[in-house]
Amino acid sequence: MFVNFRRIRKCKLVQLMTTCLLLSVAMVCWEQLDSVVVSHVKSYSFRYLVNRFTYINRSLTIPHKQARSFSNFPYLLDHPDKCTGKDVLLLVFVKSSPENTKRRNAIRSTWGNETYIQNTLGVTVKVVFALGAIQRKTSEPSWNSRSGADFQEQLIQENDLHGDLIQKDFLDSFHNLTLKLIMQFHWMHSHCSHAHFFMTADDDVFVHTPNLVRYLQDTSHRGITNLWIGRVHKGAPPVRNKDSKYYVPYEMYQWLSYPDYTSGAGYVVSSDVADKIYHATLTLNASLYIDDVFMGICANAVSVSPQEHVYFSGEGKAIYHPCIYRQMMTSHGHVEDIYDLWTAATHPQVKQGASRLFERLYCTAVKMALLCKPHFFDTYPCKAAFL
Ligand SMILES: *[C@@H]1O[C@H](CO)[C@@H](O)[C@H](O)[C@H]1NC(C)=O
Ligand SMILES: *[C@@H]1O[C@H](CO)[C@@H](O)[C@H](O)[C@H]1NC(C)=O
Ligand SMILES: *[C@@H]1O[C@H](CO)[C@@H](O)[C@H](O)[C@H]1NC(C)=O
Ligand SMILES: *[C@@H]1O[C@H](CO)[C@@H](O)[C@H](O)[C@H]1NC(C)=O
Repeated sequence: MFVNFRRIRKCKLVQLMTTCLLLSVAMVCWEQLDSVVVSHVKSYSFRYLVNRFTYINRSLTIPHKQARSFSNFPYLLDHPDKCTGKDVLLLVFVKSSPENTKRRNAIRSTWGNETYIQNTLGVTVKVVFALGAIQRKTSEPSWNSRSGADFQEQLIQENDLHGDLIQKDFLDSFHNLTLKLIMQFHWMHSHCSHAHFFMTADDDVFVHTPNLVRYLQDTSHRGITNLWIGRVHKGAPPVRNKDSKYYVPYEMYQWLSYPDYTSGAGYVVSSDVADKIYHATLTLNASLYIDDVFMGICANAVSVSPQEHVYFSGEGKAIYHPCIYRQMMTSHGHVEDIYDLWTAATHPQVKQGASRLFERLYCTAVKMALLCKPHFFDTYPCKAAFL
């Protein structure tokens, strides 16, 4: 009897402790979930009901002289004549870091091969890489600063070989991505303003250049201006969690929601938009280091809005299938597989069936099966199946 009683109490105690544990776990999780839900509700309300993004423009406007501090870093590597005398359809800036030589080589031999594009598509596309400077640790032991200098030497050799590195003297880091963005628009303004379109992309992005070129040629023929396409983020709230990579303090950005912007993985603007953005960068405080959000702020200041293109991926990868290859524009998160994807996605057979009715129906069915089920990774949306 006595033993039994103790056993029951022990059981209860364990039960109680487990309950407490579960409750506290739930509370911690709820708090995070809660803040995510609440911040999204607030930001969507701000985006769709209040929509006072003009305040942002007003409060971030600074004198030209101060704005110049974000753009007047000297060039370490430059190619001012890259576009001269050519009818450039598209200028692509790939945001790269000094150490990512492998990724740059993969892009040069696949989707960013200018010679291939010229020969097979008959248009001029210029592909250059945007870099910051390698950290020079002058206060560190000499072997370390030597390695920085050696590394720059390697970059100079790579640049001699390919002639496509644009590098400015600011530290290449995540928190300096906005400086890199500004560099791209300023470079285009000075050296390639006659290009019809401008694209910026990460160095782990796959761009289906033939599809993109076809789309841009069509857009250009129809005389469309004011174009900004990509994967659009609407009503995204600033991240206030200090542990996040995307944390933005209140002092830097005080509103509940960012203006609409496209995922920085890859987006395209027409040259008139590029020019307007360039002018916006001359008057805005660029200390907000999330480059795609800053692009949204610049665009907001000059009244340009982004348009969704369903075959631009945001964070996610395309699903590998010939029916997808026919329409894909960009896909994110490729390093090793970029060669295989390029070969598969540009295979002559991929295009052949595209005009036959049966093939089209077949592909719609396949794409519905691939894209219209609930998934947790961010690939193309379901509506892409019906295009
Ligand atoms: C680019 O394409 C051309 C023509 O197709 C080819 O000869 C050349 O080797 C390619 N370049 C690279 C770096 O793969
Ligand atoms: C950005 O670059 C500047 C100039 O090189 C440097 O002083 C600064 O520390 C860098 N900022 C970050 C956050 O890396
Ligand atoms: C730009 O904004 C930052 C805060 O994000 C602020 O510290 C800085 O003083 C501002 N710069 C100018 C020139 O107003
Ligand atoms: C943003 O501010 C600039 C300078 O204050 C002004 O010329 C421009 O019209 C503003 N843009 C919008 C969309 O309010």
